[in-house]
Order: sequence, then C-alpha cells, then structure tokens
Amino acid sequence: MKAKQIKEIKSQSKNQVSNNKGPDALEMLKQDHKKVRKLFQDFENIHEDEESDGHKSEIVKQICMELTIHARLEEEIFYPAVRELIDENELMDEAAVEHAGAKALVAQLEAMDLDDDYYDAKVIVLGEQIDHHITEEENEMFPQIEKARMDTLSLGQEMMERKEQLEEELGIFDGTSTRRPLLMKKASSRPLHH
Ligand SMILES: [Fe+2]
Repeated sequence: MKAKQIKEIKSQSKNQVSNNKGPDALEMLKQDHKKVRKLFQDFENIHEDEESDGHKSEIVKQICMELTIHARLEEEIFYPAVRELIDENELMDEAAVEHAGAKALVAQLEAMDLDDDYYDAKVIVLGEQIDHHITEEENEMFPQIEKARMDTLSLGQEMMERKEQLEEELGIFDGTSTRRPLLMKKASSRPLHH
C-alpha cells in the first residue's frame, strides 16, 4: 500500500465516531432525523402493496425503536442541557408535548396488528407529526444552540454512550425481543415534566 493511501485511511478513521470526543450532538440528532424520515418514506412507498406485510411491520418496528431511543436521549440529556442554555421555554415545552404525542402513537402501534383499523393512518400521522417536530428542532432550536456555543461534543459523547446502553437494553444488539414491549411501555409512560 502506498504511503499516500495509508495517510488517507488514517485521516478517515480520525474523523470517525470511534475516538473519545464527540460525535457532535447536533450532527448525531440530524443523522437520526434523516434515518427516521427515510423509514417513514419507505413505509409510504410500500403501504399500498398488500404483499409486503412482513416488510411493513419490520419498518414500523424500526420506526418505533428509533423514536423511543431518540425521545429518551433528548429528554434525559439533550433537552435539560438546552433548557439551561437558551431562554426558550415555550419552544422546549412544545417539543416535550410533541414527544408525548409521538410516544402515545408509538405505544398504540406497538400493541396493534397490521390489519387493525387505522394502523396505516396512525403510522402516517405519526410521520407527519415527527416531520413537523424535526423541522422545528432543526430550524428553530439548533440554530440557537449553535449561537450559544454549547459544548456539543461533550454532550454528543454523553448521548452516544447512553444510546449504546439503550440499544442494548432494547435488545438491538443481542437479538432478544422479549424485553422490548416492557421497555416501550416504560418509555411511553414517562411523565412530561421531570
Ligand atoms: Fe425530538
């Protein structure tokens, strides 16, 4: 391998998340937003196709998982830090209420079968609400955080560690799904204010 290639590989791995600083909290949340928007898009693309039931429920399961982890990270770590930093209680309260709405729909979907009434409608409405929520975070909340020069790298580090814990708890890594409904329930019944 040529020296130049080795140098390139080294600098690539330097930019990756694996070192101890970061990732940037805002970048991390934006990536999650992108991922979940794509999942809703996938759902909309296949929801007319009756042959794709297995795929459909897999997508919804993933959506519920992503949103559960996202909400926990924001409510436990990100929102409290932001509330301290920026004087925007109204905006933060709205975000918390939007999370509560999303968690209620996630809990309902978790308990539903694909052919239940309103299943597709609930997924689609959830997608619309999340879309609005993401837009507000990215267009209104994040710019203020950037302006306030928050240490988004330390925050990102903390969030990444918690994310890994949550993924393990929710059985994403070990493949067990038996603990999942319980944790979903717990996450969805968290109080709005704490
Ligand atoms: Fe959020």
